[in-house]
Amino acid sequence: MARQPAPGLHVVEHPLVVHKLTEMRRVETPSERFRQLLTEISFLLTYEVTRDLPTRDERITTPLTEMDAPVLVEEPAVISILRAGNGLLDGVQRVIPSARVGHVGLYRDHDTLQAVEYYCKFPPIAGRTVIVVDPMLATGNSAVAALDRVKADGPADVRFLCLLAAPEGVEQLREAHPDVGIWTSALDDHLNEVGYIVPGLGDAGDRIYGTT
Ligand code: URA
Repeated sequence: MARQPAPGLHVVEHPLVVHKLTEMRRVETPSERFRQLLTEISFLLTYEVTRDLPTRDERITTPLTEMDAPVLVEEPAVISILRAGNGLLDGVQRVIPSARVGHVGLYRDHDTLQAVEYYCKFPPIAGRTVIVVDPMLATGNSAVAALDRVKADGPADVRFLCLLAAPEGVEQLREAHPDVGIWTSALDDHLNEVGYIVPGLGDAGDRIYGTT
C-alpha cells in the first residue's frame, strides 16, 4: 500500500478525548492529574494519527491454522518538541512501543515570539513516517521551525500531533508545510497578546512539570 499522508486539520472529537481535555483545561486540575490525562489523551490521539499507516501481509501460524495477517510496514519515528512535547511521549510510546524517539529543543523568544533552536538529536528518519509532537500549536513558530529541521533529514511523510491548536498556528503551519497533516483534540478561539491560546489551558510545560 502506498504511503498516503493525510494533509489538513483533523480535530479528534471523540467523547473520551473531549472529556479529558475539559478536565485538563480546569485551572484547579493539579500537575499529577494533568500529566495522567495528557498521557491518556495522547494515547487516543496516536490511534488517530496512525490510522492510515501502511501494512503488509505476513504468513503466520495461529494455534489453528496458517494465515496471511497484516503487520505494520515499519513503526513511525516520533520527534518531541522540548520541553512540553515530552508530556505526550508516554501515551505515544504505549501505542507504538518500538518507535524511535528524537528531540528538538526550541524556546520562544518572549519579545519576538520566534522559535530559537538550542538542542537537536534525531534517530535516522530518512524515508520514514515521522510524528512531531507538541501539546500546543499556538503561533506555529516552534512547529514550523521543528518541521523545517525534521524535513532536512528526508522523511517520507510528516504528521503533527498536538493537544490544542489556535487558528493562527494552524494557518502558519499550513502555509509553511501544506503537506503536513495536523491532529488535535480541539481548535480554540484565538491567541492573546502574549501568544497564549484562548480559552486554552495555560502554559502546558508549567502545568506538566508544576513550574508555575
Ligand atoms: N504554549 C503553551 O504552553 N500554552 C499556550 O497557550 C501557548 C503556547
